[in-house]
Amino acid sequence: VKEMKVLAISGSPRKGNTDAMLEQVLKGTAETGAEVELVKLVDKKIGICEGCDPDCFGTEKGCHLEDDMQELYEKCSKADAIVLGSPNYFRNVSGIMKNFIDRWNAHCKPSKLKGKKAAIVMAGGQPEDNIKQGAKSLETFVEDMKMVLVGKVFAEADKPGKVQGNKEKMQQCLELGKKLVE
Ligand SMILES: Cc1cc2nc3c(=O)[nH]c(=O)nc-3n(C[C@H](O)[C@H](O)[C@H](O)COP(=O)(O)O)c2cc1C
Repeated sequence: VKEMKVLAISGSPRKGNTDAMLEQVLKGTAETGAEVELVKLVDKKIGICEGCDPDCFGTEKGCHLEDDMQELYEKCSKADAIVLGSPNYFRNVSGIMKNFIDRWNAHCKPSKLKGKKAAIVMAGGQPEDNIKQGAKSLETFVEDMKMVLVGKVFAEADKPGKVQGNKEKMQQCLELGKKLVE
């Protein structure tokens, strides 16, 4: 059997709850021998989408911006499964995650990620209903890119280190990881 490549993308600028959730998902996948990697968007140079559509949309040449997104297009294309994680910011994803999403305009039609498995995690300081609203952007991205959503975990956690104390959520993340490589 081919070894699966699982890529986690974190939209949190800090080492907080989102990263802890993503690490736990990856732990679940790694138990099956999958190759895993976590990319923090804050460590990457990702320019904002300049809206030069239709120059990039549906074309072969893709996005003209020469930054770290070029490496991420490659990484994502090579992955079998992608885990998207973001903190809940004003009932949405973080700005760096939204930038990342917008830059896919160059490769959404046809989708470079079509058929890949996807999972979503989000941490927020508010109760889960609020976080659910924040995660909509991630869900619609998965849908628009024609990826296959395997599952999602939302956790109420404010300060860094909080979510690790929530056994139920940690377990859900671990299970999500396992499900991703089934
Ligand atoms: C700019 C900003 C906006 C936020 N807005 C929300 C919000 O609308 N709803 C919510 O549940 N939490 C909100 N929070 C709280 C964070 O989601 C929470 O601290 C979470 O643990 C951050 O995840 P992280 O530790 O992975 O960075 C906000 C935090 C910041 C910094």
